[in-house]
Amino acid sequence: MKKTIFIAGFMGTGKTTVGKEVARYLGRRFIDTDFLICQESNCENVEDFFSRFGKSIFRKKEFEIISRLADSGNVISLGGGSDQNPEIKNILISQHLVRLVAPMSEIEKRIKNGSGRPLWEKREELYQKREGEQSLGLKINTGNKQIGEVVSLVLRTLNAGIEIINKQHNIILGWGSSNHSIDEDNSVGVIENDVSGYLFAFPKGCNEILNFSGGEGSKTYKSIHGLLDFFNQAGLSRDGSVVVMGGGAISDTVGFAASIHLRGVPVHLIPTTLLSMVDASIGGKFAVNFGNAKNLVGNFQMPKSIRIDSSFLPTLKHEEYLSGLAEMIKMSCLDEELFSAVYKDIKSLKNQNLIKLDSYIKKVVNLKCEYVDADPYDIDNQRIFLNFGHTVGHAIELSSSEKIRHGEAVGLGMVAMSKWSEMEGLSETGTAGIIQDMLERAGLPTNIEHFNIDKASFFEALQKDKKWTSQGLNVVYPKAIGDFEISNLTNPPAEKWLDLIS
Ligand SMILES: NC(=O)c1ccc[n+]([C@@H]2O[C@H](COP(=O)([O-])OP(=O)(O)OC[C@H]3O[C@@H](n4cnc5c(N)ncnc54)[C@H](O)[C@@H]3O)[C@@H](O)[C@H]2O)c1
Repeated sequence: MKKTIFIAGFMGTGKTTVGKEVARYLGRRFIDTDFLICQESNCENVEDFFSRFGKSIFRKKEFEIISRLADSGNVISLGGGSDQNPEIKNILISQHLVRLVAPMSEIEKRIKNGSGRPLWEKREELYQKREGEQSLGLKINTGNKQIGEVVSLVLRTLNAGIEIINKQHNIILGWGSSNHSIDEDNSVGVIENDVSGYLFAFPKGCNEILNFSGGEGSKTYKSIHGLLDFFNQAGLSRDGSVVVMGGGAISDTVGFAASIHLRGVPVHLIPTTLLSMVDASIGGKFAVNFGNAKNLVGNFQMPKSIRIDSSFLPTLKHEEYLSGLAEMIKMSCLDEELFSAVYKDIKSLKNQNLIKLDSYIKKVVNLKCEYVDADPYDIDNQRIFLNFGHTVGHAIELSSSEKIRHGEAVGLGMVAMSKWSEMEGLSETGTAGIIQDMLERAGLPTNIEHFNIDKASFFEALQKDKKWTSQGLNVVYPKAIGDFEISNLTNPPAEKWLDLIS
């Protein structure tokens, strides 16, 4: 039976806000004991309850509710001071307890006038008293932290377990897996700036760590030069390794630099976006953009290990999360059974239920590994199926004047290709519709109206696509969900593809 998660702490430390979010990420119910006590007694708030029934009745009611919900498996935020009751303490010891703390100055900023809180006037005295008391639970300081970071830290306290999900590729999955130390003695780390500000521990064992500004703009040859300088100055030798923590853009860039330093040093990847967890970090393709073309210059080198830790995701912007979900949907299109399951769970996945998400990460990653193993160097027309939606998607990425994320662009590419193939009579009727429906249910764009695409750049980008051969452009399209085909087009219908998503 899963333990109930209790969140304790002084007023204003963020128990309700954090509790609601933790419940959402775990797909569990959230209960605020103060709220429930007042609701069951028809009181407006705790102040109202105190004035009508008194503090001791409140404490009695609190104990009654906590006993009733002790084994519920819910996420429960406790009223300030409730855990000082020895009977309540006994209940909390048997479940999972997290204690939020914050400096008084921060609490005063958050609460301001203390309305509805009967003990607000005595806050200083109470705060000092609670500080002096022995308190149970794992402490997390919420002062100066964003909600996402606090939620990530709470999730990590759950010790939910770490699993090897693919032995051959050394891929492990689990909250806290990113902390495992690195085997090599002479390693260096590169960490994404957007991630380094949070309290996520970098694996032990790196001699030097470089903070790196990630994102698509970092995928340049200039970055490679800077990284090679860093490796040289850090004395990185072939018995060492490079540990990369960040999104797909940084793993593509740093991985490429590592693959040419001393003709290749091992790379350990710690993806921090959903897209890099399910796609970019898997399969050993590293590349940077070059001359207005995506991923034109790069290399193949299988990562030495990949640690997938979805507890990073609460700090990620929701749009970035959805961009990763688009790549998961793309992978699921390759497998009918997986597609049906994802379709059924798309609401929970959109809502970031990390328990469900981890179960799909496992499936999607292993499916990608099957394609990679069948064609590690992308020469036997097997890996190309992973590029469904990418031909049009990459061209959209390069021709939009608005910010468009990789996964969003790939989703648009999937809609364009499936509509086109259906129109050409190459696909089962309804294939495009169900793909579009899945993307829409996930909250992803299925037309380009907000992206301001420059047609000339779109056509130019298509001409520079990596999948051109001397015969024509290789494109991937669905005959049906789970059944894909390659077509070689001497004269790709670029205008038509754009029309189909306009
Ligand atoms: N090599 C491959 O096989 C492969 C496959 C798919 C995609 N890709 C590449 O991956 C890139 C897209 O990757 P992405 O979607 O991860 O984008 P990204 O790396 O650009 O990251 C998106 C943004 O999120 C920030 N970020 C990362 N982790 C965060 C966290 N935990 N909390 C807060 N912010 C965080 C980053 O700083 C960045 O601003 C594209 O360049 C694409 O070409 C490569």
